[in-house]
Amino acid sequence: MAILVTGGAGYIGSHTVLTLLERGDDVVVIDNLSNASRTSLDRVAELTGREPTVYIADILDKEALRTIFSRHNITDVIHFAGLKSVSESVKEPLAYYENNVTGTLVLLHEMLAAGVNHFIFSSSATVYGNPESVPLNEQARTGGTTNPYGTSKYMVEQILADFSHAQPDFRITCLRYFNPVGAHPSGRIGEDPNGIPNNLVPYISQVAIGKLETVSVFGNDYPTPDGTGVRDYIHVMDLATGHLAALDSQDKGAAFKVFNLGTGIGYSVLNLIEAFEKAAQTQIPYQFVARRPGDIAECWSDPSLARTELGWQATHNLDDMMRDTWNWQKNNPNGYRM
Ligand code: NAD
Ligand code: UD1
Repeated sequence: MAILVTGGAGYIGSHTVLTLLERGDDVVVIDNLSNASRTSLDRVAELTGREPTVYIADILDKEALRTIFSRHNITDVIHFAGLKSVSESVKEPLAYYENNVTGTLVLLHEMLAAGVNHFIFSSSATVYGNPESVPLNEQARTGGTTNPYGTSKYMVEQILADFSHAQPDFRITCLRYFNPVGAHPSGRIGEDPNGIPNNLVPYISQVAIGKLETVSVFGNDYPTPDGTGVRDYIHVMDLATGHLAALDSQDKGAAFKVFNLGTGIGYSVLNLIEAFEKAAQTQIPYQFVARRPGDIAECWSDPSLARTELGWQATHNLDDMMRDTWNWQKNNPNGYRM
């Protein structure tokens, strides 16, 4: 019996593969390495003393999926593979719909053909669009997404809900991540963005290491306590255990489920800079600039459904998140590139 992890060489995937291997599950990974390095999985093997079976292939490749399902006794699929840059999605919408929507359809077809019916999908808080109020629970309005990346996640959730009606034997869980940050405490695996990071925490950590000069804080006139944007940052190791909890509860309750994975606490951009300064024992230069188009003032979760139904809650606080991000960054200033 094995768990297929699509996108398992990526940031969240590699931490989840590690957590699965550590508890004794067999893991098969499919990843086309479009946004990852094979080294992440070598390090997972080094940390756990166990090897996942790795296929460097695309989820759009039906034959590759057929080979995997025929060779391994897969019981569950955790589906991370996809493209995730908001700004790139605006420039290349077709690539985003193809990878994220068509890729999921191809995978579901092959799961049906192979008789594999447990599926966990990487969704995002982005499906809530511009929230009417915070904290957000799973009943909050979805849609109103403002970019192809967000729309692709919203579309896949819709497709999965329809598919679940038609295939009641399928067990489907959508996990809506809030803002994943942090790294494995060993500092051996972590987030390795290509080029200049778009997201706040990788940007701050590259300023701290001296690769970038100044953090641009996008807006200080939001209706928030200090005027900067507020988000629900969650440690990637908490996300990993959230996937294990979701796997373990798939046969309980409804066939189609949706959970927020967040801490329930909102922090501002300035809170993050301050916490990072403490972790890295250095000053982080920053300047206020105009708001980033498409950004919202605040977004944080009500994570209570995951607590009651999955028995899961985040255990890492902001200092843990910044400490582990910095530990990864300082030990790997060029990410997985030597
Ligand atoms: P990531 O880019 O590090 O991981 C995605 C992995 O999928 C990469 O290893 C990439 O090489 C692989 N991949 C992409 N397209 C593929 C394809 N067609 N076939 C095979 N492999 C493919 O991203 P991540 O941060 O680990 O995110 C994982 C998932 O979680 C994504 O679906 C993302 O949209 C979702 N998500 C991420 C965040 C975040 O901030 N990191 C937030 C919410 C949701
Ligand atoms: C972004 C995506 C969202 C995606 C999420 C994954 C956008 C508009 N949204 O969310 O779809 O699901 O990443 O984590 O890109 N900030 C700065 N300076 C920076 C970078 C960010 O001030 O250099 C601010 C932002 O304005 C925001 C906060 O930091 O208030 C967090 O930004 P970011 O890490 O990019 O995440 P989100 O915008 O929440």
